[in-house]
Amino acid sequence: RLKRLMPTDIRALKGQAPVVVLTAYTTPVAKLADADCDVLLVGDSLGMVLHGLPSTLGVTMDMMILHGQAVMRGSNHALVVIDMPFGSYEESPAQAFRNAARIMAETGAGAVKLEGGVHMAETIAFLVARGIPVMAHIGLTPQAVNTLGGYKVQGKGDDAARLRADANAVAEAGAFSVVLEKVPAGLAGEISRELTIPTIGIGAGVDCDGQVLVIDDMLGLFAEFKPKFVKRYAELGKTAVQAVADYAAEVRARSFPAAEHSFFDEAGK
Ligand code: KIV
Ligand code: NA
Repeated sequence: RLKRLMPTDIRALKGQAPVVVLTAYTTPVAKLADADCDVLLVGDSLGMVLHGLPSTLGVTMDMMILHGQAVMRGSNHALVVIDMPFGSYEESPAQAFRNAARIMAETGAGAVKLEGGVHMAETIAFLVARGIPVMAHIGLTPQAVNTLGGYKVQGKGDDAARLRADANAVAEAGAFSVVLEKVPAGLAGEISRELTIPTIGIGAGVDCDGQVLVIDDMLGLFAEFKPKFVKRYAELGKTAVQAVADYAAEVRARSFPAAEHSFFDEAGK
């Protein structure tokens, strides 16, 4: 098997090939996505997608480490990047290093991701200088939903300058790539052409250097709501609901299990 991709390999895709990223939270899903993806992101979206939390704010270090370990066990090709959860890195570069080092040491993942632009640049530089590759995340940063006032498109009109400053700050700080979430397509394209690190878009148009989606969204498994930027490549949720209904009906009709699913003794009983 080829050796696992590293942050330097992802960085080197800039200008060469689009970077393919999906979230993954479990071993079986990591297994089915690993070969086709450059990066598997253990996103803190797992709080909402897997654990039913109302936002990502309640996600803990232990949750990220447990799911990070599961994704590492299910992959051997893609770079695994693990989100730093809310409250684990914002206080100081030292706090960020302590928690990022724990994530890396306990999971074996190759990088962490954290939210924030200009105000997190010092922290990103601190981590990178100490051996921790960082994927940045700017634009709509869901951990800041309460200060942003909702999950709105970021960088419209005069706000574009703020987005550009954030993008340049995280790139200069040494991030190996940056997620642009819910940013107008034109601005995301301009930022992508300006930076020398790959931009990974989600709701940021086709001119980013790569794309990321939450895998449960694109498989149609997470059906609470569908953001505009999600394309459903399958309807696995509908398939699963039908399968459960069929099973329930067959149990009630005593048509499951059939002989082929049953065991019999030597007398055929
Ligand atoms: O948590 C997550 O899944 C993410 C991606 C959507 C970028 O941060
Ligand atoms: Na996230």
